[in-house]
Amino acid sequence: MADRIRLAVVGCGDVAFRTYLPSLEQLGDVSCVTATCDLDSGRARSAAELSGKWSGDVRSYTDVGACLKSGDFDGLVNLTPGPSHPRVTHEALAAGVHVFSEKPLANSIPEAQALIELAKEKGRLLLCAPATTVTNRWLLVERLVKSGELGLPTLITGQHSSMGPAGWRGYTGDPEPFYSPEVGPILDLGVYLLHAMTSLFGPALKVSASGTIAIPQRRVLSQGAARRVIEVRTFDHVLLQLEFPNGMAQLTTSFAVAASRAPAIEVHCTEGSVSVGQGGWFDPDASVDVYKRDEDNEHAEGWRVETPSTPGAVDNLIGMGPAHFVACLRDEEEPVLTAEHACHVLEIALRAKESAAAGRALTLETTF
Ligand SMILES: NC(=O)c1ccc[n+]([C@@H]2O[C@H](COP(=O)([O-])OP(=O)(O)OC[C@H]3O[C@@H](n4cnc5c(N)ncnc54)[C@H](O)[C@@H]3O)[C@@H](O)[C@H]2O)c1
Repeated sequence: MADRIRLAVVGCGDVAFRTYLPSLEQLGDVSCVTATCDLDSGRARSAAELSGKWSGDVRSYTDVGACLKSGDFDGLVNLTPGPSHPRVTHEALAAGVHVFSEKPLANSIPEAQALIELAKEKGRLLLCAPATTVTNRWLLVERLVKSGELGLPTLITGQHSSMGPAGWRGYTGDPEPFYSPEVGPILDLGVYLLHAMTSLFGPALKVSASGTIAIPQRRVLSQGAARRVIEVRTFDHVLLQLEFPNGMAQLTTSFAVAASRAPAIEVHCTEGSVSVGQGGWFDPDASVDVYKRDEDNEHAEGWRVETPSTPGAVDNLIGMGPAHFVACLRDEEEPVLTAEHACHVLEIALRAKESAAAGRALTLETTF
């Protein structure tokens, strides 16, 4: 298997063990892990031991610089906490390594643009989560909408909410950074839907948002910091509206919603609608509901269920990110999860926070 893409996994925390390593195991025919790195040597070693089962020899590191010096891999998967993403990604690109970064790409637009420039200068691939738009489920939605069967898309509505990692009993990482101004629900959850919305409508022109801190102090239920109480330092409810050249979108995203049965995302067209449920949201191959209206024949109107015909390479949405990264490095797919797209979504998220504070709509400048 000499032609397998060799990867370094940097940041061996919750998402690495929960999702990335199991997904990379499913990609064992086309990629392998050759290095793991975490500030915590025990976690780096555990990740190396686990991935060694399908990868062969895996070395573990506690310092990204030392890991990069080994030169033992083609691509690096950046799974450090959000605020550390740009520093780790910059170091890897500067060393000539392709990067797949968890979201967000960076903490600011200039920082994101500098990474995009560096990737170009070095001729390296820079891709970014979330992987919503490469799932078979979303590709099916895009096909249905673009086929014209439902008329023209005019409005997309979405909701992605939870209590956030502090309320997630099974979470093993530190939930505190998620409630800081650097993250919050838009950058952690809302981005899944913002990528979907902008993949259909293209770059947005304007954002307006409002936000509030609904539950200012959180009792932490997760294993990563059990029994602590943390302060919420960013809006935990955010309502956001987007204007596009040919459409509108509305998003509710929150870390203060106990449960919801609202659909994750719905695309409304002049002749029908597509509804994507929250149930199975992380299943990349789950079905969608389609409503077709017919002004001439009411008996022809109604809902039907559509299911993607071929299953994806891995069985969860998050794992589709590294699957796409590996496929791009093997020249089997064209890059979809581009850093330019992630930069535009980052601008929406950052400007939404500004808009909520300023109480007015703001114009967006980036494009992809
Ligand atoms: N946990 C999930 O289910 C989930 C899902 C989707 C996306 N994500 C994203 O994945 C990223 C990581 O989240 P997580 O939940 O795994 O967090 P986590 O806190 O559990 O893990 C992060 C790990 O990175 C390590 N780390 C920090 N700085 C480092 C550095 N400079 N070099 C090497 N290691 C470093 C930490 O020691 C820790 O083990 C975040 O961006 C998060 O938004 C997480």
